[in-house]
Amino acid sequence: MDPYRLGLLGHGTVGRGVVDLLHRTSEECGRRTGRHLEVTAIAVGDPTRPRALPEGCAARITGDPLEICRDPAIDLVVELVGGIDAPREWIRAALEAGKDVVTANKAVLATHGEELFELARDHDCRLLFEASVAAAIPVIQVLQHGLPAGPIDRLLGILNGTSNRILGRLEGGMPFTEALAEAQRDGFAEADPTLDLSGWDAGHKLALLTRLVLGTSVPLDALKVEGIERIEPIDLAFGARHHWCLKSIAELRRRPEGISLRVAPTWIADNSELAAVHDEYNAVLLEAETFGTLVLQGKGAGGLPTAGSVVADILRAARGEGRTPATPRQELRILEPGSSPSRHYVRFRAKDRPGVLARIAGALAEEGVSIASVEQPEPVDPSAVPVHLITHPVPTTVLDAALSRLGPNGILSEDPLRIRIDALPSPLPSTRVDEGPGATKGATPCPA
Ligand code: HSE
Repeated sequence: MDPYRLGLLGHGTVGRGVVDLLHRTSEECGRRTGRHLEVTAIAVGDPTRPRALPEGCAARITGDPLEICRDPAIDLVVELVGGIDAPREWIRAALEAGKDVVTANKAVLATHGEELFELARDHDCRLLFEASVAAAIPVIQVLQHGLPAGPIDRLLGILNGTSNRILGRLEGGMPFTEALAEAQRDGFAEADPTLDLSGWDAGHKLALLTRLVLGTSVPLDALKVEGIERIEPIDLAFGARHHWCLKSIAELRRRPEGISLRVAPTWIADNSELAAVHDEYNAVLLEAETFGTLVLQGKGAGGLPTAGSVVADILRAARGEGRTPATPRQELRILEPGSSPSRHYVRFRAKDRPGVLARIAGALAEEGVSIASVEQPEPVDPSAVPVHLITHPVPTTVLDAALSRLGPNGILSEDPLRIRIDALPSPLPSTRVDEGPGATKGATPCPA
């Protein structure tokens, strides 16, 4: 069989998974591609450290990724290091040398995708990236090849397994630092977990999906991105009493007046489809006139699911499939993030003394923000009592302006936390009317 020679950049959790999987499934890979797949070189940070490779794998270990990218004997480079600047150079060098490239690196493609995809086209090479979004879910394939013609009106995603797992643990009362340490220990978090927590890992993934949905790239500054760093178990406990579930939701929405793109912690109804996505699972929900609603769900993080997706791209490239289609530039009207009205949850920590609630209500009133309900539990620590507030529908930008009026004022012990509510108002459990004959049960559709 004709050999197809691979050079790997990176031999961490995913890199080891790729080498092992190719080894274990080599017969099947040969059958599916008609070629003999061979890992011939691996670039690592410390080439002097002994590496356990599968029996029979004679890959040379090097400390120089560029040497692999320029090696004429190598057909395809697999980039699994992460980061932006150095991988950009490696991918450029590999494409310029006429090699196919497979990467799981969403940050480099979200930042320099246009340049790299154009280079791939100029050199008639493939640049494949299925593993960069939602690991085991073949969402790139679905968006590129699997859907009927016609516009997608909305994409909702849970695109970061680490934050989804952490939010689930907070719901069970686990402190944030412990939940993060657990996600890192289990190999779900990025090497730099600030990307997971800040929402930017999901932001990079949303930018890649947006490019496929709209057929043109969007600048990263078109995205409004908020993280989960300030969420606490008390927020989750409050939400549970209202039948809400907190998810970091990535959203692309196409309206007649323009496109909106955001990633933010969002309250959704606890019986909605995305509320059932737990742990490191990811989901992508698509809405279009042609097919209605389509939900894809699967493991979104972890060594093996990501390695499986990388190997799927390697097989595609070995079969000669997957050339990058051109994406002609289009003028897009990007809407100001947070300009559409929605109910919001706000959590304050304030001093327990007369006039505090009046000051908060006054600041909101000055911007025309109407309060739907307020709850203050009996204080344990009177210097920082939590106050949970729900607003009537208001644009996030207006609410933020109102909250900024509170500024540093001696009554709040920290900045307020606000979270958008994408769940329809429902009666509280104590006042809920039990389902009688004729009442409907089941999943709540995503609200408009
Ligand atoms: N750190 C990412 C996540 C996995 O938690 O989803 C790779 O994209």
